[in-house]
Amino acid sequence: MGAEELVIRGARVSDARDMHELHVRAVDAFCRGHYSDDQVKVLLIGRTADGYLPAIEHDEMFVAESDGRMVGFGHATQGEVQALFVDPDWAGRGVGSALLGHALQPAARGHDGPIQLKSTLNAVGFYEAHGFVQVEPTELNKHGVALPFVLMEQTQPVALDAYESMAEAYAAAIEKNPRSIYYERPALMGLLPDVSGRRVLDAGCGPGVMVEWFLGQGAEVVGVDGSANMLKLAQQCVGDAAVLHVADLEQPMPFLADSSFDVVLSSGTLGYIRDWLALFREFSRVLRPGGCVVFSVGHPCSEYTLNETDDYFSTELRDYTWRGLGAPIVVPCYRRPLSDMIDPIVCAGFSIERMVEAVPIKEFAEVNPEEYARLMRRPRVLCVRVRKPANGA
Ligand SMILES: C[S@@+](CC[C@H](N)C(=O)[O-])C[C@H]1O[C@@H](n2cnc3c(N)ncnc32)[C@H](O)[C@@H]1O
Repeated sequence: MGAEELVIRGARVSDARDMHELHVRAVDAFCRGHYSDDQVKVLLIGRTADGYLPAIEHDEMFVAESDGRMVGFGHATQGEVQALFVDPDWAGRGVGSALLGHALQPAARGHDGPIQLKSTLNAVGFYEAHGFVQVEPTELNKHGVALPFVLMEQTQPVALDAYESMAEAYAAAIEKNPRSIYYERPALMGLLPDVSGRRVLDAGCGPGVMVEWFLGQGAEVVGVDGSANMLKLAQQCVGDAAVLHVADLEQPMPFLADSSFDVVLSSGTLGYIRDWLALFREFSRVLRPGGCVVFSVGHPCSEYTLNETDDYFSTELRDYTWRGLGAPIVVPCYRRPLSDMIDPIVCAGFSIERMVEAVPIKEFAEVNPEEYARLMRRPRVLCVRVRKPANGA
């Protein structure tokens, strides 16, 4: 069974007893070999089912269920993942990844800076595989016994602060913005295959406009975005009809199974990603053979001239000031030459099928004739479809 078939829900007072029982079994199964017998005893000493009640009552705890049976649980507060526990019988089946993906949403909400956690020694590799880095060894002193832990934190996407703060304004504007509805989206959607009955990953789904559209086309959709505020809006829009993960696209996505998607869409997001080779390898891993990636990105020609850079050939992080969404906001984004787009895609094993330099559709002219005339002469957006070989691994 994959993590996609799990249900994650808020913990209830009536869960406390099962949580305690699972907690004890998980510590016993996973911590031995990394801690002495005495340390394992101390990890558990004094714990009771009632101990979870304050956090349950504060809505900080959540439970993973399969077929109504608890298979893991977690605890997160603003800025920190407090704990995750997986039923030992369910180890290696995506429960920890699903719990962590869920935990990052409340941890990221309204929080500035990296998300932290204190990992038991046995779980360090798991958190590293999910984009956390070791900060320093730390200790928990309990009953006079020092228990070694590792302080870890998750690096954050370069534009996270900007998107967290403008999520609502962005969502309100995107549906009315002529550049989106009469320019970028028609060009991008012209490259999509029929998605009915297909599994689609929306990488950088923002407030979920395309997630909703894909669902309407009969696709099964998973959305990933680094911004918890954006995903909250996406969830308001589609409810539980799509699976949504807070995750950094610069990091591996172990919560997505190999060869499990037919299409990856990434609209207006790849400019925020430094390492395209790692990301396209990850897209290749999660795509079925013959699957495709369709994406839009700032056109390298206009990005070059607008930025007045004197080194076209470097990939550089630039600050863009957005003025259309209330107070001006600085959004960092990478500008890169065309070769730094094409090479990683080809090196990741994809073939380039279509490349469209977007032009506006005629409705644009009715709402903004000057901008329409400009976009008919000057490229601003590049839309691309690339395909994983049908015989690909
Ligand atoms: C321009 S918005 C596009 C949103 C959506 N695709 C759309 O077309 O409306 C870019 C999105 O990328 C997300 N993003 C930026 N960097 C990211 C990263 N490293 N990992 C995951 N999401 C990221 C932002 O949070 C934001 O929602």
